[in-house]
Amino acid sequence: MKIGHISDIHWLDTQGAKFTDFLNKRISGGINLLAGRARIHSTITAQAAIEKIKDLGCTHLIVSGDLTNLALPAEFNSVRIALNRYFIDEKMTIVPGNHDFYTRESEQAKRFETYMYRTPPGNLDFGGDEIWPFVQIVKDVAFIGVNSAQPRPWFVAAGRIGSHQLDLLEKALAHPEVASRTKIVVLHHHLFQILQSPGESLRKLEDASDFIDVCLDGKVNMIVHGHNHDYSIKRLKNIIIAEAGSCSVCKFKSPNRAGKFNVYTISEQRIRIDTWLYDNNKFNLWKSLKPDDIEPIERSRIL
Ligand SMILES: [Fe+2]
Ligand SMILES: [Fe+2]
Repeated sequence: MKIGHISDIHWLDTQGAKFTDFLNKRISGGINLLAGRARIHSTITAQAAIEKIKDLGCTHLIVSGDLTNLALPAEFNSVRIALNRYFIDEKMTIVPGNHDFYTRESEQAKRFETYMYRTPPGNLDFGGDEIWPFVQIVKDVAFIGVNSAQPRPWFVAAGRIGSHQLDLLEKALAHPEVASRTKIVVLHHHLFQILQSPGESLRKLEDASDFIDVCLDGKVNMIVHGHNHDYSIKRLKNIIIAEAGSCSVCKFKSPNRAGKFNVYTISEQRIRIDTWLYDNNKFNLWKSLKPDDIEPIERSRIL
């Protein structure tokens, strides 16, 4: 099975937005956009990524959050249309990022859920009583979607999964239909420090350690995430932890920060990772890794 993974699309579309929509945390988001994000992230690059993933023969697409900038209805609507041009809802696993719950108002309106989960995101009843985590069984793979995002004050991008969701995750991983398959957990936030940023405490996953304990016990094969807009593929014991970067970046200084996506090819429970990088107006193969090539990290690195 061939699976595409994109993240941090940050689709910009302010059509229909009212002035009053910006009289909240969006003021800081709006300043960010003016400061350069709108020039760095391109909807053309994002569409090229999705199209290339489809051309490569991927039958499933993972989107690990930050689909929008300001959680505006126009952004959700446009990005959903762009995704559905190539993949139907049942062929995608999508989780939210901090930008998709940018304001308390967007969370209360359930805007992410309304636009991105027009059909229920999971297809296995494992006894969960919330939207997240959900389990989506596709052939030999169980995709498990976890929500690490929630509205936060200005300039805070940290995440939290919460004990209830972690209990349900443990339950989901123990289900026989899940346990017998290759298990890929999808969330937005990273688990160990990737960027050397002084503001790490304001952008990290606060319960990363509790989360990884559940995954290690549950023998998860792979955890995929976004949030850093950076490339990182490591192995913690038997779990591959992978981030490609943002798929919509069209201008960059270092390859790690370039527009990228990953393709995971699973055969006989082994996972090969190909990373594609956007340069000269198209995506080109940048790196290929087999499980044995992946650099290990220690449990102590988890935040
Ligand atoms: Fe992001
Ligand atoms: Fe993020």
